[in-house]
Amino acid sequence: MSRVVVTGRIPRQAVDSLAAEHDVVAHDEEDAVSREALLEMVRGADALVTLLTESVDAELLDAAGPQLKVVANVAVGYNNVDVDACRERDVLVTNTPDVLTDATADTAFGLLLMVSRRLGEGERIIRSGTPWKWGMFYLLGQGLQGKTIGIVGLGGIGAAMARRARAFGMDVVYHSRRPCAPELAEELGATRLDLAELLRTSDVVSLHCPYSEATHHLIGAEQLALMKDTAYLINSARGPIVDEEALVQALRAGTIAGAGLDVFEQEPEVHEGLLELENVALAPHLGSATVETRTAMAQLAADNVLAVLRGEATLTPVG
Ligand code: GLV
Ligand code: GLV
Repeated sequence: MSRVVVTGRIPRQAVDSLAAEHDVVAHDEEDAVSREALLEMVRGADALVTLLTESVDAELLDAAGPQLKVVANVAVGYNNVDVDACRERDVLVTNTPDVLTDATADTAFGLLLMVSRRLGEGERIIRSGTPWKWGMFYLLGQGLQGKTIGIVGLGGIGAAMARRARAFGMDVVYHSRRPCAPELAEELGATRLDLAELLRTSDVVSLHCPYSEATHHLIGAEQLALMKDTAYLINSARGPIVDEEALVQALRAGTIAGAGLDVFEQEPEVHEGLLELENVALAPHLGSATVETRTAMAQLAADNVLAVLRGEATLTPVG
């Protein structure tokens, strides 16, 4: 029996499948564990199941000890895990791709509809008790049909967003480090552009790249200035990919038409400027937040741990 430490509350089924073979210690509370308690809790762990709110760094790995074999992050993004520090200690790292692809693309597309059709703004009007009535020119938004969406990062979620956009009658262009598979480009009718060209030509720019040093503030003042003043920016990836201060300036100045954000630079803080703007749809990092998806994510993390502790290969390794 190995010791498995689950650092936050995850769906029961995943914990049960770990507990069937191992000794499981879980921080089974909705609130995140304190750093101090976490460092104590991981001691002697052979495997860690971690949430994206925890920083899995050298200090934590050393607190766990040299027997640690695997860190299974319950998220597709793993910028909270120091992968190099894990590699140096022969600790495997896994994430949860694929199972959250559709849920996350749904959230991103929902934010796009909210901002382009001013649905959040309209809801705020009704809830505030402000009088309203149907009017030919009342709260007009912009239609998506025939417009171009620029997908930044054409991985699984980017492709799922592109498919939704196609179903809404949009054209797709994309930017990514490598060209995508020819079959995917053909299916989406998607052309690969450099970032500046994508920003200049897109009516919607949707971010789906991982966060790393290379994508820190990928979208800043300079990039926002390239966008059409009628365009929307959607971020369901990671907050710091966008320079939030520059985004607030661009939205205030009308350099772009609006933004839909599921992620923020300093979660759970949200830039004050965003709260004052009507042309922004905001969601509290709900990308993968469905019962089905969270259950599948937790189970995939558990299955990765079970595989490693049985001496088998990881299912979804990173790095
Ligand atoms: C959520 O943000 C994830 O990376 O899974
Ligand atoms: C709008 O409500 C319409 O009937 O066109």
